[in-house]
Amino acid sequence: VDLGWGHPHRSLVPTGAWADAVAATLHGPDAWRSMTYGYPSGPAPLIEWLAEHLSHADSGRSESAQFFITAGASHGLALALAVLTAPGDVVLVDAPTYHLAFSTISDSGCQIAPTPTDDDGPDVEAIADFVQVCRRQGRRVAALYLVPTFGNPTGRSLPDRRRRQLVGLAQRLDFTIVEDDTYRELVYDGPVPASLWSHSDGLGVVRLGSFSKTVAPGLRLGWINAAAGVVKRLERLGYVDSGGGVNHTNACVMAAFGTSGAYRQHLARIRPSYARQRDALVDTLRVRLPTVATPRPSGGWFVWIPLPAGCSARALLPTAEQHGVSYVDGSKFHADGMRGDDHIRLAFSLYAEQDLVTAANRLADAVEAAVG
Ligand SMILES: Cc1ncc(COP(=O)(O)O)c(C=O)c1O
Repeated sequence: VDLGWGHPHRSLVPTGAWADAVAATLHGPDAWRSMTYGYPSGPAPLIEWLAEHLSHADSGRSESAQFFITAGASHGLALALAVLTAPGDVVLVDAPTYHLAFSTISDSGCQIAPTPTDDDGPDVEAIADFVQVCRRQGRRVAALYLVPTFGNPTGRSLPDRRRRQLVGLAQRLDFTIVEDDTYRELVYDGPVPASLWSHSDGLGVVRLGSFSKTVAPGLRLGWINAAAGVVKRLERLGYVDSGGGVNHTNACVMAAFGTSGAYRQHLARIRPSYARQRDALVDTLRVRLPTVATPRPSGGWFVWIPLPAGCSARALLPTAEQHGVSYVDGSKFHADGMRGDDHIRLAFSLYAEQDLVTAANRLADAVEAAVG
């Protein structure tokens, strides 16, 4: 059982409801519109539905001019970096954070620097000092990338106060926070904190969203929330200017999926399933490894496990795989690879509850074997 994969469970991919949305989009006299070139920032029906939907899923309402439809959050990150940074700029990344963002940032020609952190996340004063040091060296800190809500890999969310402090810092020191908000809607318990974007008044924050986790990764569909001026710059990118909006046909189907109510129904179906999957994994680990502080994240797809003292995530992996379970070792989520060997990331999204119980038992056996 490979708990390394952050993929949806096969029974939670909405093939039937999506087929209905495709049929609704491709029947009728205006069907051709969904299969011609798209509008630069994306089709209006999707943007209008999204603006309305997010005004409930977050606080505040974004204007239509503040949206740009993308081919997923990864594409959104690449696009944001294309218009906000120049090669050689420094991009700060949370530590730990989503590991596959590192190569997207490197592709842009920027240098990656892990943020100093404290118990509440990125350390505001230490970042301010770092930005000043870079300036004295003639380097520009252009952006800070983070996943502040049900983060990958930790499942944790930044406290509200830290969100406001970071937005204030970005506005004062003239860098952009790239807020990866991929997991906002996968909430299982309690409220979801307001986004950094909603605290920003459109200044100093660009937010990335995705339908990969809430609907299906194969759609390659997501969105950017940014100041209207940033959206204009995205619209002027050469390949957007030449080819129109990205992924136009799927974006039109998503508009039908959203406006028909299918999206809300789908979320209402998947949330309790993912919560049960999380509980199967967490409850078994808590019973089997009582001295390990296994957290129960209130949203997202991941559990970030602190290993017992002296147990290395990298060293444990072959033993775990001999026992029939795998994971991603924590050092992968640190840009410098120097920290994180004391944690492992487990994804509970891909497997049914019974398989997660099996996986947790195998992992516990492996940990017991490793620590004696
Ligand atoms: C934090 C985060 N951002 C982005 C992605 C990728 O999103 P997309 O499929 O929309 O590119 C993932 C997927 O694991 C993720 O965890």
